[in-house]
Amino acid sequence: MKALLFETPGENVSYQEVNKPEISAGQVLVKIQAAALNHRDIYITQGMYPGIVTPIILGSDGSGDIVELGKDVDPNWLNQAVIINPGIGWDTGGLVQPKNYRILGMPENGCFAEYVAIDVKQVHPKPAHLSYQQAAGMPLAGLTAYRALFSRANIKKGERILISGVGGGVALTACQFAIALGAEVFVTSGSETKIEKAKALGAKGGVNYKEDGWHKNLKAIAGGDFDVIIDSAGGDGFKYFLDLANMGGRIVFYGGTRGNFKVNPQKMFWKQLSMYGSTMGNNEEFTKMLAFINNTNMIPVVDSLWEMKNGADAFEYMNQGKQFGKIVLYN
Ligand SMILES: NC(=O)c1ccc[n+]([C@@H]2O[C@H](COP(=O)([O-])OP(=O)(O)OC[C@H]3O[C@@H](n4cnc5c(N)ncnc54)[C@H](OP(=O)(O)O)[C@@H]3O)[C@@H](O)[C@H]2O)c1
Repeated sequence: MKALLFETPGENVSYQEVNKPEISAGQVLVKIQAAALNHRDIYITQGMYPGIVTPIILGSDGSGDIVELGKDVDPNWLNQAVIINPGIGWDTGGLVQPKNYRILGMPENGCFAEYVAIDVKQVHPKPAHLSYQQAAGMPLAGLTAYRALFSRANIKKGERILISGVGGGVALTACQFAIALGAEVFVTSGSETKIEKAKALGAKGGVNYKEDGWHKNLKAIAGGDFDVIIDSAGGDGFKYFLDLANMGGRIVFYGGTRGNFKVNPQKMFWKQLSMYGSTMGNNEEFTKMLAFINNTNMIPVVDSLWEMKNGADAFEYMNQGKQFGKIVLYN
């Protein structure tokens, strides 16, 4: 089969002939229709990710059709249109992931290929209202956003939410979830165009984090402080979240794109703030996320579609950070 193979840290992926995967008992073979990029894929090619193994087929996000069943798999799965939960080894509950938790697309071969072999418990029916391309944008970003918002921050309808860097795949999905829930959503972005696009989706307003005094401007346009703040940038700007949070506010972060941050302990304790780190989610949360998407008819935003054979160009494009929504590859 053809796949985008990653061989050398510091170099891009290349489209080439590789062995078609063989399935074991309890696994299914999924013919990939569409797959989506995450920042994780970029970090890995740049050698900026722990535990890099090569050669490897990257790609945590995929949707497609089940074309072969391993021993002991329910025959009803054959020919089903599915999306794949890329979080492997964390089935239900528990506050944290088990030690053997891993993400599809390294160490196991992922979805930037014609086929992927995966345990049947990782596949879920594709929401009927979504195309393969739209569905492929959901798994990793959706699961991360769902856990951050619902399991960690426990957001409620009507609360005022700030989502930073809304151009990010997870951030935009979190923005859509919070709007669909009926929260009052404000955003930051390094791009005015992306702020306008978020407003078109239902966000109340936003500011550019590149402007001096952005946090003061945000407070002014929002007319108050935030009950929940969702961030993946960290870095110098993070300290302002303590000023922007309401008394008793919850701040959740799942990334550190801009590096380490310092927080003022006095602001933290006086305002009785809670801070939560969050990573991906379990299979039970994946099921709940799909139910939320189905119930609200939510449609993930797709920035652009690329043929799998041009995947290396899609990696370059993501690295420029101009996208709004998921960058999707198709076979
Ligand atoms: N823990 C987990 O489970 C998990 C899961 C997924 C992702 N992550 C991490 O989360 C981060 C984002 O991932 P992604 O896949 O969503 O990436 P992405 O789609 O490439 O988005 C990155 C976004 O970061 C935003 N950003 C950059 N500088 C910023 C700043 N100073 N302040 C606020 N926002 C800033 C940008 O938003 P604008 O374009 O709007 O300026 C950019 O779009 C990465 O660090 C990734 O490793 C963690």
